Amino acid sequence: MNLQSLRDQFLLDLAQCTHSKDIEHVKVSYLGKKGHVSALMADLRHASSQERPLLGQQINDLKQEITQKLEARYEQLASAELNIRLEQEWIDVSLPGTARATGREHVIVKTLHEAIEILRNMGFSVQYGPDIETEYYNFEALNFPKDHPARDMQDTFYLQPNILLRTHTSNTQVRVMESTTPPLRIIAPGKCFRSEDVSRRSHVSFHQIEGLYVDKHVTFADLFSTLEEFFGKLFQSDLKMRFRPSYFPFVEPGVEVDVSCMMCQGHGCSICKKSGWLEVAGAGMVHPEVLKYGGIDSEQYSGYAWGFGLERIAMLRYGVPDIRLFMENRLSFLEQF
Ligand code: PHE
Repeated sequence: MNLQSLRDQFLLDLAQCTHSKDIEHVKVSYLGKKGHVSALMADLRHASSQERPLLGQQINDLKQEITQKLEARYEQLASAELNIRLEQEWIDVSLPGTARATGREHVIVKTLHEAIEILRNMGFSVQYGPDIETEYYNFEALNFPKDHPARDMQDTFYLQPNILLRTHTSNTQVRVMESTTPPLRIIAPGKCFRSEDVSRRSHVSFHQIEGLYVDKHVTFADLFSTLEEFFGKLFQSDLKMRFRPSYFPFVEPGVEVDVSCMMCQGHGCSICKKSGWLEVAGAGMVHPEVLKYGGIDSEQYSGYAWGFGLERIAMLRYGVPDIRLFMENRLSFLEQF
């Protein structure tokens, strides 16, 4: 190919480059080691010595022209391509985002965590007992007589004879006593189950937190002050507390724990049924029989225990009128907390 037709061919090839990547191919086929320009150079040796300097000069000029034109075209194509990308991949960072629904703790779990936090700071450590329990730990070791109505199938879910769903977190008491030497100061949170009619105020499944303290010289006054401090912190109010005598087979004496109504400051309202008081827990001094079941010398040691329902606490704290709401997983309800 002569110089002129090579130049024409190059201009044609160049005109056909529509993408910056095409430039590389053209560059290789003209300027590469085995390219057209190198072939022309190689042909120089067939030229006469008079022609050779001029021809050499012309080939060099062409080489330079090709190099420049390729570079210029490359710049042109590459910058056009960049502009297209900038156009297409443009993001308006000032646009408002799409809100993503995030999960959160269930209100019962939230109440549980707050209660645990307060009690841990008061020196209690957390222990867990099993949901599926033997009749022994749920009733017998807690001093329930054989014919006690709570043991009845009507109140308790039995899985097999002697195996049941625990009816209270008190099942953890003797388990902990067996494995720990006093002083012991624990709480045992967890699920409980009772075969009850479901209503606004009661459910077949609910949560409790058990408290148990065993040491030398533990008194009723310790129980009172501990619960008063705890409920005051939990309800974030300067509440009053009172004990009413009550009966649980595993404590003696046993009490029902009331706090002054935080809705009306004890003046009487619909929440506290005009009494000014709300029942929040059962408690008492650990029965010597129960200490014995736990392998603890009741001559040397005494203890207190309490148990309260988390659903009840959450209903009071947030003014929830129906315990069933906690189990229904309705988002419009749960999102409030
Ligand atoms: N276990 C009792 C209940 O479920 C509560 C309780 C616990 C009472 C510990 C006294 C001592 O009602």
